[in-house]
Amino acid sequence: MGRTELFSTRLSGATLDAVAGDNDPPRQRGGRHDQLECDSPRAMTETPDTAELIAAARAAAVNAHAPYSRFAVGAALLMRDGSVLTGTNFENASYGLSLCAETVAVAAANAQGRLREIVAVAVTGGAMDEAGRMRGDAVVSPCGRCRQVLNEVAQLAGLDLPIHCAAAEGDAVATYRLSELLPHAFGPADLGIF
Ligand code: THU
Repeated sequence: MGRTELFSTRLSGATLDAVAGDNDPPRQRGGRHDQLECDSPRAMTETPDTAELIAAARAAAVNAHAPYSRFAVGAALLMRDGSVLTGTNFENASYGLSLCAETVAVAAANAQGRLREIVAVAVTGGAMDEAGRMRGDAVVSPCGRCRQVLNEVAQLAGLDLPIHCAAAEGDAVATYRLSELLPHAFGPADLGIF
């Protein structure tokens, strides 16, 4: 198992119960679901377990292969059993073939036959300094393609996945439901596949 694919953290049962039970419809935020809103009450509420998932995403980003953009991204998937799978971005000299951290993490879950076990996601990122360390205090949210990839697993799992968006540094976290980031999504359900 590659270091970028598996992070051995296990989160508590209480966390998993909280995640599984907290699947309410997304809150209204004045209709602007496509923007990060760090100052909303929910966005600023970071539980210790969310912090742990974000820490796993930050640890994964250490292994980013991002010599072209110099922008490291880490993603962490909380699994139903409390384990955490991670991914980091994997760029390519042809640029367009680059893989995003979230997609790499989801592929790692798929490789283990665990697509339906994903219950929450954390993503973080920032520009790399000269030493290769991820920097910055602006929260990072999944790109459009990654939102669609995450929608695949969300529909398979029957969960409106919580997505914790964090910065490379600092405590700011913006938490969204996937349906907020990708409203009216097209997915496996549209093709009659579950
Ligand atoms: N990136 C991700 O890994 N995930 C995202 O959701 C946004 C962008 C990566 C792709 C590329 O390697 C770098 O960030 C700059 O775009």
